[in-house]
Amino acid sequence: MKLLEKLTMADGVSGGEDAVRDMIISEIKKYCDDITVDAMGSVIAHKKGKGKKIMFAAHMDEIGVIATFIDDKGFIRFSNVGGIYTKEILYSRVRFKNGIIGVIGAEEEEFNKKPSLDKMFIDIGAKSRAEAEKYVSVGDTAAFAGGYTEQNGVVIAKALDNRAGCYILIEAMKKLKRNKNDLYFVFTTQEEVGLRGAKTAAYAVAPEYAVAVDVTDTGDTPEAPKMAVSLHRGAAIKVMDRSVMCDVDVREAMIAAAKKAKIPYQMEVLNIGGTDAGAIHLTRAGVKTGAISLPLRYMHSPSETASIADINACVSLTAAIADTL
Ligand code: CO
Ligand code: ZN
Repeated sequence: MKLLEKLTMADGVSGGEDAVRDMIISEIKKYCDDITVDAMGSVIAHKKGKGKKIMFAAHMDEIGVIATFIDDKGFIRFSNVGGIYTKEILYSRVRFKNGIIGVIGAEEEEFNKKPSLDKMFIDIGAKSRAEAEKYVSVGDTAAFAGGYTEQNGVVIAKALDNRAGCYILIEAMKKLKRNKNDLYFVFTTQEEVGLRGAKTAAYAVAPEYAVAVDVTDTGDTPEAPKMAVSLHRGAAIKVMDRSVMCDVDVREAMIAAAKKAKIPYQMEVLNIGGTDAGAIHLTRAGVKTGAISLPLRYMHSPSETASIADINACVSLTAAIADTL
């Protein structure tokens, strides 16, 4: 899983995916016929075949924060890039693109309640505005920092949403030797701020079918909301989320492919959130679109947790569906 570690340790807050993009391009070069990068920064890799035109999509970007104001004492006020939960990020470390680390703090009176973003700040240890401005400017983004851990069959890291999806597409590309279908593997930008990169990439590719690969919530922690997705139970085949009703033919093909190859799977209905599938299926005159989801605990926190067996199941299902659709 060295590649997954590399991918999660790279930072790519929405709109600044360059480091992740470079890493992915150098990894997939050998496994496709051509690669283009579109104006939005998405990577479109083509693996030629004579059959159906299928687009696979995984987003490269991750949630993060953006500096909005630096005060006289050198504390940096910030806003969110994508969905962040204020309770989960208190005292987290964030890393700006130049490597500078900050700690997220909150105004004293906020400690006993759920702090609101405008009462929080980033402390980089600067003693004045002038000192802080040597390292951070308004508009700079920072990603959550954190280590990478594998133990007890799980991986713990930041940005598994959605570097795990990128990893799954890359490993599926490596598995596919002589594909009959015409395959496009797209690594999209700016999903976390509104499925933006997928929209333009899908327009350019104009696929007949599409499959988004992303993460989903689980209902398997103490007193969690009732949700029929758990870690270690296999790849989740999406039925719906707030952005898409998955195409029935694609969904049935996934179930058939999973059964045939004995890949563990579970069905997913997600009550909140969306995925690139939401943008792709509404492209041009519509695209038959499904989604494969990796069950993930603590989504959008610096310690996202997923099952290694589930990641491998998602790789197998992605490769299987590429030629059976
Ligand atoms: Co996300
Ligand atoms: Zn995601």
